[in-house]
Formats: sequence, structure tokens, C-alpha cells
Amino acid sequence: MTEVIIVDSPARAGTLVADEIVALVQRRADAVLGLATGSTPLPVYEALRPHAALLRDVRGFALDEYVGLAAGHPESYRSVIEREVIAPLGLDPDRVRVPGDDGGPIETAGERYEADLVAAGGVDLQLLGIGATGHIGFNEPGSSFASRTRVKTLTEQTRRDNARFFDSVDDVPLHCITQGLGTILDARHLVLLAFGAAKAEALAAAVEGPVTSSLPGSAIQLHGHVTVIVDEAAAARLQFAEYYRHAWAHKPSWQGL
Ligand code: F6R
Repeated sequence: MTEVIIVDSPARAGTLVADEIVALVQRRADAVLGLATGSTPLPVYEALRPHAALLRDVRGFALDEYVGLAAGHPESYRSVIEREVIAPLGLDPDRVRVPGDDGGPIETAGERYEADLVAAGGVDLQLLGIGATGHIGFNEPGSSFASRTRVKTLTEQTRRDNARFFDSVDDVPLHCITQGLGTILDARHLVLLAFGAAKAEALAAAVEGPVTSSLPGSAIQLHGHVTVIVDEAAAARLQFAEYYRHAWAHKPSWQGL
């Protein structure tokens, strides 16, 4: 089922997820983390910093990457992951993959990424944010639930939303390479985070709306182990918020996330 936890701050969400990751890594030192970029997962990476010594052997696979930025561009997701995750957490850069970062042709980068994911044994815990269009990864509306890692065209809405990381919207690439919805659904545990009122509509549609490729985030409803953690503002449109609060308040302590 989809468990929804409403917290009072992104920092609290970060701590909850970091604790879950620590427990996972204590069970298996080389656990495979599915990494997200953008603003949403930052409190998780922040909360993991005190546990860096534990994370040395962890492996990571990023959700997505822009296509068309020069190698080493500071806003490429490879650079962002190096800055926000690999360096502060002391991960081994060779154990972290970002789609398209292996230097091979972009046309077949998706297939190579999928092969590397399979060779790693799949993702244990996948961090997800959600875009205003309802995208997860960069799977924009209309993405197939069976899709695998491939090159896609960003919506203009997503380019505008991400323009804050660039000098202007014109500098935001048109294309991306993203894990597919089918790829994401293969992860063993999905953890979707959303903070702020701008996410409330897409979040409610993903969690409680119809399962439809028009709202790619709704694919999470097809997964057997999903944890959604939101702040009050992002929870504002949830129809069953009271039940989620009740269930969280009475959650058996042995269950974990
Ligand atoms: C990032 C990603 C995207 C973002 C989403 C929300 O790797 O896959 O789906 O999670 O666009 O972005 P933020 O967190 O910046 O609001």
C-alpha cells in the first residue's frame, strides 16, 4: 500500500528517511540507493551526513540527467550528485552511476544503464520527488508505465520550473535521459517526498487520483511498498489526510517505513 506520513518540516522528513537508509545499510553495507536530484531530496542527504562512515560501500543510481550539457557543467545531475551526495557522504564515485555518464553513445545509454542496474541487483530504496506536471524522474505526462531508461523531451513547464538552476530558461536543455516508470517500479522500496503548496495538487493526484499515464506519479499506486512523506503544505489536497495521520500515530513500531 501507499503509506502517507505528514510531517511538520522537510528536516523531519529527512531524518525519517535517513534513519531508514541507515537501517538498510546496517543490514547490507553495499545497498543500492536510487538517488534523486532537485531540491526535494536535499534534507535526506543533509540528515545522512553524520552517518557518512557507514555509507562507504553504498552504491547509487541516479534517476535522470539532462542531455546536451557539456561534461562537467555544474548543473548536470552528475555534477549535482557529486556535490550534494558523493562528496559530503564520502561515497565512492565509481560506485555511483548517472544515466549517460559512461561516455558511450547517448542513443544506447538507456540500455547500458538498465544493464548496470540489473548487474547491481536492482535498487533497494528509491528516492523520488514529484514535478508540478506529475512527473517522477523525468517521465512527463503520457509516459508508459512499462517504460525503461531512455531519452525524452522535457515539457516547457518543467524547463520553466528548473530555470532557477540556470541563467535563463533558454539554457535548460530540451532533452533528458530518465529511468522509465517500469524501471522505477522495479525498485524494492519507493520513498516519494514532496514539500510546499506548489506540489499539493500533483501529490494528491499521484496518491489518490486515478492511475493514469497522464499523471506519471500515479504509477506509485502499482507498487507494493511505497512511503510518501510530505509537509503540511504539500498534504493540503489529500482527501484521506486524517486517516494517514491516524495510521502513522498508531503504526506498530516493528514495521519501519
Ligand atoms: C530529479 C527528478 C525530478 C524531481 C522533480 C521535483 O532527479 O527526477 O522528478 O524530483 O522535478 O523537483 P524539485 O525537487 O526540485 O522540486
